[in-house]
Amino acid sequence: MSVLVTGGTGFIGSHTVVELQEAGYDVVVIDNLSNSSEKSLERVEEITGKPVKFYKIDIRDREGLNEVFAKEPDIDSCIHFAGLKAVGESVEKPWEYYENNISGTLVLLDVMKKHGVKNIIFSSSCTVYGDPDKVPVTEDTPKKWATNPYGSTKSMQETIFADIQHADPEWNIVLLRYFNPIGAHPSGRMGEDPNGIPLNLMPYITQVAVGKLPFLRVFGNDFPTHDGTGVRDYIHVVDLAKGHVKALERIKANCGLAVYNLGTGTGYSVLDIVKSFEEATGVNIPYKIMDRRPGDIAENYSDPSKAEREMGWKAEKGIKEMCEDSWRWQKNNPNGYAD
Ligand code: NAD
Ligand code: WQD
Repeated sequence: MSVLVTGGTGFIGSHTVVELQEAGYDVVVIDNLSNSSEKSLERVEEITGKPVKFYKIDIRDREGLNEVFAKEPDIDSCIHFAGLKAVGESVEKPWEYYENNISGTLVLLDVMKKHGVKNIIFSSSCTVYGDPDKVPVTEDTPKKWATNPYGSTKSMQETIFADIQHADPEWNIVLLRYFNPIGAHPSGRMGEDPNGIPLNLMPYITQVAVGKLPFLRVFGNDFPTHDGTGVRDYIHVVDLAKGHVKALERIKANCGLAVYNLGTGTGYSVLDIVKSFEEATGVNIPYKIMDRRPGDIAENYSDPSKAEREMGWKAEKGIKEMCEDSWRWQKNNPNGYAD
């Protein structure tokens, strides 16, 4: 049987395709390439030695999706990564975010149901916890209203999935709440390839390291954390990808609706990450302390124990490997997949 991976040419999707193929799954990827390159799949094939079936379509394209399901009758589950994900852009373009992420998911679910496929894993986010009252957060920590449209789409999509599974218990749905994915495939052949100036911390650091940006802007050093800079739960993208393979096993066991945090359970500050990167790579990262970035919270990190208990999944890679692998990818591919 095969797995439909939406958004499979993107950062997390492409790493997940590698892990799926290595676990013996057949994979069908769909993506509209709005934020990715098909070259990522060439690299997947290079690593796994197996071809990846790819259809360039949009998840909002009902007819296109129907055709994929008709041509690929072996699809029996879906991992749904496709979506827009830039927090700041979502504030500027809320309609586009709701339309792409919410309408796209509704079309996908409808077409899946039409073809009798009722198994799906969804890329949710720690953003659904907002600014939590207490850390670490468990899956039972109350969700808080998001401060940006991107975050709202994740919360709303979770609600849609839960309601659909409640109405029709034949659905098996796993909501995976990712913390902060960084790192890259250890081969140095695949990694994160943001458009323009990176918004997230690690790709910004690696672009400083490779000389494309002059210094890191540290957004605030007056948060109530051990050194005043923001604390997050960074997780290696390969560990995250493996979490999806484990989630497929939950689906096969007819889990109904299940929700898991995917994080390491350890929080690192911005300056901890700078220091870890310098130690792991030997490259100096100049930085300047700036004002806080609007909407940033002081700290968030996970309690990932439910995923270990119920799925047998635990992050294995530490911060050193995350830094080394991010750097290997950036150093070997200074212009990402454009090289
Ligand atoms: P990404 O942008 O690299 O991957 C998303 C992919 O979806 C891209 O390849 C893009 O071209 C595709 N896409 C977007 N809209 C589409 C549409 N309408 N039809 C078909 N394809 C479409 O992002 P990523 O970091 O790999 O994130 C994957 C998923 O994980 C997203 O849903 C994101 O919101 C979620 N997530 C990401 C993070 C993170 O920090 N990277 C954290 C939590 C959750
Ligand atoms: C991490 C820390 C910044 C850049 C985002 C989304 C969230 C989820 C994960 C998708 C913070 C600081 C950053 C820089 C800095 N994504 N920073 N200088 O904001 O925790 O989460 O990605 O669901 O929804 O909001 O990640 O990597 O942007 O920031 O000082 O140039 O690094 O202030 O403390 P964030 P990030």
